[in-house]
Amino acid sequence: MTTNEMQFNKRTHTCGELRESNIGQSVVLNGWVDTRRDLGGLIFIDLRDRYGITQVVFEPNFSEEAHNFAKDLRSEYVISIEGSVRKRPPETDNPSLPTGHIDVMAKKLVILNEAKTTPFPIKDKIDTNEDIRLKYRYLDLRRASVQKNLLLRHKMYQITRKYFDENNFVEIETPVLMKSTPEGARDYLVPSRIHKGKFYALPQSPQTYKQLLMISGFDRYFQIVKCFRDEDLRADRQPEFTQIDVEMSFVDQEDIFQMVEGLMKLLYKEIWNLDLQLPLPMFSFDEAMEKYGSDKPDLRFNLSLTTLNKVFASTTFKVFKEQIDAGGIITGLLANGCGDYTRNQLDVLTDFVKKLGAGGLIWMRVKDGGELEAPIAKFLTDEEKQNLIMSINAKPGDLIFILTGSRIKTLNIMGLLRLEMARRLDLIKADSPPKLLWVTDFPLFEWDEESKRFYAMHHPFTSPRLEDVKLMDSHPEKVKARAYDLVLNGSEIAGGSIRIHNASLQAKMFKALGISHEEAEHKFGFLTKAFKYGAPPHGGIAFGFDRMVMIFVGESSIREVIAFPKTASAISLMDDSPSNVSEEQLRELHIKIR
Ligand code: AMO
Repeated sequence: MTTNEMQFNKRTHTCGELRESNIGQSVVLNGWVDTRRDLGGLIFIDLRDRYGITQVVFEPNFSEEAHNFAKDLRSEYVISIEGSVRKRPPETDNPSLPTGHIDVMAKKLVILNEAKTTPFPIKDKIDTNEDIRLKYRYLDLRRASVQKNLLLRHKMYQITRKYFDENNFVEIETPVLMKSTPEGARDYLVPSRIHKGKFYALPQSPQTYKQLLMISGFDRYFQIVKCFRDEDLRADRQPEFTQIDVEMSFVDQEDIFQMVEGLMKLLYKEIWNLDLQLPLPMFSFDEAMEKYGSDKPDLRFNLSLTTLNKVFASTTFKVFKEQIDAGGIITGLLANGCGDYTRNQLDVLTDFVKKLGAGGLIWMRVKDGGELEAPIAKFLTDEEKQNLIMSINAKPGDLIFILTGSRIKTLNIMGLLRLEMARRLDLIKADSPPKLLWVTDFPLFEWDEESKRFYAMHHPFTSPRLEDVKLMDSHPEKVKARAYDLVLNGSEIAGGSIRIHNASLQAKMFKALGISHEEAEHKFGFLTKAFKYGAPPHGGIAFGFDRMVMIFVGESSIREVIAFPKTASAISLMDDSPSNVSEEQLRELHIKIR
């Protein structure tokens, strides 16, 4: 065996490259031993790199020396082989591999490095705990299925950069150490060594910078940028994630929509080979909530909610009447053909909505002849029952679910029941066409029950609809924002807004949010000051790039499309961060751990 790198021949081809047209050529391949089969006289190696796999044959009659060395090969050894390309004998022909009609008869073998047995096999379908995969992520990343995700991510970066460049956007980097700005989540803070007791924040997004760049006159900005948010993590959330951040001057919503739709059309074509029909469907927030119980509705299946307040407008049924009087909602969901659900199945669904905060789940079976069988049937008049069946379009054999309560909360729960029913009824197929849409006209403010105050639903720089400005003091809950989200398959892949570009409207906004003049000065003084020097009207959007890639590759967790992700508890298992630091480091930063 030789591991002498002096004799290392550089590759002439990759392991995915050789075809029948190369037969007869002398080639050098470098790569990892994927599998080794020793058939006594003959040794077969599948040699792998990121381009593919090529079969290499060691035959004693062809090269005794190479054959002898090959006996020592094990999985994941890094080798260089030199040999000649031949047509595979018919019995070993493998049409499922692009290189499957040829193999390479090895004349020379150099072992560049040995490898310990890996903690899991380097192959596509493995049944390995995700924690182990993340601990040895560099090995996980050798697997073709994970490499495929990152290669597609790379392709999406390139398409994005080219698209924005061709549309006159300027890519500008913004600081990673910045002043803490509010985007709704908690900041990651970085202590300053030089300025005792002071902190930088890592950007939750470059929101303030991109607005300042508009004031500087850059007019069209984009950046593919890391953002950091210390929030509870889920399958589609990471503490550090990537945005395609975009801002434009002298625009209204339509201009932003057009620019975004152009990029999505391109990605649909280049990644999925699909023709995206434009313009995209558009729902107001109110409409999306009432029809789908979500501000990011998944339209890949055909289940919708029906508001039943009119049907029960003069009901004597106490549960409904109380909610109608209190301004609440009665919302219904039709489950086609589910009239034979057992009591047990209905109990499970009742538990499902109760865990989400519902008081209970009302259900009714539609029987032959159209009568309703339900615990609450006796409280309803015949007319109410008939109207219910008509408005919700029910047939014999169907099941009707009804929830009632405060508007947004109840619609949200029904939206989750809608998704649960889609899952139970297997309504989303692997080949269901993707569904992309806009949601617009979000409320400007969101009421927080705990702190009893309004928060900006998007962020405090989002412009109200101009016709609603007059309501900001008297009826803040009625004010709509010039904000929009882009939703793909039920996932919010981008969000943005037209901004406030006028200092007095910005001051009004801070006031409505209960932010005092002093606090606003302290937190955002740099921005409000800038608005006074000729800020153009502007607006923008940011895509959650990881989420987009996740959906384009068909994964269900963003960890699958990030090279080195963190776990759900924000740990990097590979390098064990966050980790302890030395007393000395803490002292320098003027920090004491309590
Ligand atoms: P927003 O907060 O809506 O807007 O973020 C934009 C998009 O980023 C994605 N996203 C995330 N992806 C992964 N992990 C996370 N923790 C995470 N948080 C958000 C979502 C979301 O749609 N500055 C504004 C944009 C603007 O107004 O232009 C902003 O950041 O896909």
